Amino acid sequence: MTGNSLIDSQLDYYRARAAEYDATFVPYMDPALDSVLERLRAKNIRGEVLELASGTGYWTRHLSGLADRVTALDGSAEMIAEARRYALPNVDFRQQDLFDWTPERRWDAVFFAHWLAHVPDDKFDAFWAAVGRALRPDGVVEFVDVTDHERRLEQKDDQEPEVAVRRNLKDGRSFRIVKVFRSPAQLEERLTALGWTCRIDEVHPGFLYATCRPAAR
Ligand SMILES: C[S@@+](CC[C@H](N)C(=O)[O-])C[C@H]1O[C@@H](n2cnc3c(N)ncnc32)[C@H](O)[C@@H]1O
Repeated sequence: MTGNSLIDSQLDYYRARAAEYDATFVPYMDPALDSVLERLRAKNIRGEVLELASGTGYWTRHLSGLADRVTALDGSAEMIAEARRYALPNVDFRQQDLFDWTPERRWDAVFFAHWLAHVPDDKFDAFWAAVGRALRPDGVVEFVDVTDHERRLEQKDDQEPEVAVRRNLKDGRSFRIVKVFRSPAQLEERLTALGWTCRIDEVHPGFLYATCRPAAR
């Protein structure tokens, strides 16, 4: 079982990193942005959209342009404060721990980027069950994540090298966070077993894009 201390440390890390997130994330992500946007704009994302782990709003601003309304959930109030800078008129932000989340309604589409690798294997099925409960019957789930190619950027954790990595902030503070690298094939197998039909492609070296629907329709 993944200990709560690792899950808590992960959220602490992102809370503390919020103000410095974009300085590293934007130059890292921007070279792949066009490839990702091509899939994001393939007309699946529309209507009422739920974004999970919305962070500083890097993706929220694009979702906002495609959706009628976006509900954006993140566990960190600091991240939400960063995202509010975009002043997106059709986005409702809510602070929510996604490891303790029961959706209270359904959306047309669910999107998340750079979140699933932070979901450990023993919380994977429960997370996807919650996503299923958040989706309308004809809805779609899309997500962006890293492939194994990006493992080279990470500092291995001494205690749990298969599940965790170590991240440092500018001020020298060091945190343990979950980072599970799953290939498109591994994700497809696991999600098929959970009743999803997915198309998962590496759209840019190091970045995958997935489009998933409940299989039984
Ligand atoms: C790698 S960032 C991704 C942010 C954004 N989706 C992006 O692509 O830039 C991970 C996000 O997950 C959030 N997070 C971490 N633990 C969480 C938890 N337990 N519940 C909800 N959000 C959490 C962090 O605050 C952070 O915004």
